[in-house]
Amino acid sequence: MRKSFFKNKRILITGGTGSIGVKILDKLLRFSPKEIRIFSRNEYKQYQLRYKYSNEDRIRYILGDVRDRDSVNNATKGVDMIFHSSALKHVPFSEEMVEEFVKTNILGSMNVMRAALKHEVPKTISISTDKVVDPANLMGLTKAVQEKIFSSHSLQRKKSKKMSFINVRFGNVTGTQGSLFPIIYHQIVTKKPITVTHPDMTRFFISSDEAIDLILWATLKGNNGETIIKKMKATTVTRVADLFLSVLGIKKSYPVKFTGVRAGEKLHESLITEDNLFRTKEKSGYYIVRPYTSGESVVLSKRRPKFKLEQFWSGNPDNFLTDTEIKRYIKNYLTEHKLKNIII
Ligand SMILES: NC(=O)c1ccc[n+]([C@@H]2O[C@H](COP(=O)([O-])OP(=O)(O)OC[C@H]3O[C@@H](n4cnc5c(N)ncnc54)[C@H](OP(=O)(O)O)[C@@H]3O)[C@@H](O)[C@H]2O)c1
Repeated sequence: MRKSFFKNKRILITGGTGSIGVKILDKLLRFSPKEIRIFSRNEYKQYQLRYKYSNEDRIRYILGDVRDRDSVNNATKGVDMIFHSSALKHVPFSEEMVEEFVKTNILGSMNVMRAALKHEVPKTISISTDKVVDPANLMGLTKAVQEKIFSSHSLQRKKSKKMSFINVRFGNVTGTQGSLFPIIYHQIVTKKPITVTHPDMTRFFISSDEAIDLILWATLKGNNGETIIKKMKATTVTRVADLFLSVLGIKKSYPVKFTGVRAGEKLHESLITEDNLFRTKEKSGYYIVRPYTSGESVVLSKRRPKFKLEQFWSGNPDNFLTDTEIKRYIKNYLTEHKLKNIII
């Protein structure tokens, strides 16, 4: 099914040099696409990717900025599908550099949406995050706007039935650039204390393979305006730090420093809003939030949601990963990155 769906397709991946973008690329190459366009700004990252895939002539590298309407427009011409994965993603940065996040995450998404509409691209997948749920930081707010930009098409009276825009929402992907796993590993190899913001802070975690499965499922099964979510498991950041030491065979006395919650950070995350719950159904282990229909008012709704909010809350111990599961994530991360060659 997957293979035939992507066969002979021309695909654009914005942010194709990023942690998620490269995983999408890697997976889709196995499904016989005609062409995959990698769109991003940094020449060196594209150079590295060219080197990695030097035998692959189906990849086209395009330098450009999602903020630039013309470059997004040109990159989109003739594609069958877009994975919109470019974004600025670091919460503390977003609190300081508001304008940069608005330009990349909101204006960039607008440009992708406009280009998709102009070229009648049949399918656009927008990669979102759990930070959009009751956002406490500008990063989450900008990504929440991104979700709205893409789901808005389903509400338009003159929408094209040939096109669909789908949001995919998930929490932390283990081992991605600048995320918890590489930071802890780097702190250990450089003999620095492991820094944890707050002993009780929890986060959702999934592997990159699980994230890609979710993205591909949404691509195949998602309908216009829907947001597809995977109910993920969570743990405390402290538990990840403890088990990292255990997996690496380091004494429990290794210093762990609590640095305090940073601006814009929440103690716990959630995958879904209360309002979403009224429009959520489960299918094949995924949760599908359908878009609003006009005139719909959740406040007036007499329906009761099928699911409870706490099922989607990272602070709920019922949602916690077991130590074995966390250790498996850590071991997979260490194996994939060959321990020495780590980018943080
Ligand atoms: N990693 C996670 O744990 C996680 C969890 C949930 C959701 N997500 C979402 O997944 C997406 C990808 O995340 P990631 O972890 O792969 O991030 P990443 O590794 O930082 O990659 C971001 C990508 O976006 C590109 N980019 C940034 N600004 C751009 C611009 N103005 N124009 C064009 N390209 C731009 C970057 O390349 P250049 O710098 O070369 O432009 C890079 O290719 C984001 O939307 C993020 O919110 C990630």
